[in-house]
Amino acid sequence: MSDAFWNSVFSGPDFRYGTDVNQWISLAVGRYVLNGQWFANLGIDTPEELHVIELASGEGRNAVWLASQGFQVTAFDQSAEGSAKTRDLARQEGVPVTVRTDDAIELGVSSSGWRGHADVVVSTFFHVPPELKRDMIAAHRNLVRPGGLVIAEWFHPDQRRHQYASGGPPLPEMMVSVGDLRTAFAEWHILECRSRVRRLDEGSGHVGDGVVTQFVAQKPVYWF
Ligand SMILES: C[S@@+](CC[C@H](N)C(=O)[O-])C[C@H]1O[C@@H](n2cnc3c(N)ncnc32)[C@H](O)[C@@H]1O
Repeated sequence: MSDAFWNSVFSGPDFRYGTDVNQWISLAVGRYVLNGQWFANLGIDTPEELHVIELASGEGRNAVWLASQGFQVTAFDQSAEGSAKTRDLARQEGVPVTVRTDDAIELGVSSSGWRGHADVVVSTFFHVPPELKRDMIAAHRNLVRPGGLVIAEWFHPDQRRHQYASGGPPLPEMMVSVGDLRTAFAEWHILECRSRVRRLDEGSGHVGDGVVTQFVAQKPVYWF
């Protein structure tokens, strides 16, 4: 879906997916990052030293929560409207978030400046046309440093195939399965990768039971 589409979705005063952090992001960040063990292994001692990149950050609900945990956060979204609301929410909550509107797919695949830059890459419901799906997943891989984590949640193709009405893009091919991720991250250490039905309560955009794919994986420390 285009930039124009998302600008119109985000143009009103409401936050389409609410202002609370996505449930999977808060759970997985708590489990793998905030307990401190994982980043101590990478020579990172405090949350302030840890750089999180969020792809497709929308109106900023996750980015602002991540910044409130003390992390350095860079939020990328193609939508100028979503990015403006992210800046406003960060200001309102009194946390620093760097907001960029670069095209995230292009950025992840070919921008050498950001390759391996993030300790953690986060995304929720980053859905693109089927011909771009592999590149979208590759963007997550490319931006993480060796030893770093990807933490993400997408709609699973069963969300459309089984006619769940809680949100998501029009085509099942735009959604992400466990198989897509196991193939794309074959040489990574996969910590969690599952599809499940869960209750969504995210603004007016995601409401009701939905089929999601939840993912946490670590890039091998010795990456070439
Ligand atoms: C369903 S919304 C999810 C927003 C946010 N992650 C959340 O869960 O609240 C999808 C987002 O993907 C963004 N998006 C789609 N294609 C993109 C691309 N190539 N680069 C950056 N953002 C993109 C849209 O602008 C939109 O903000």
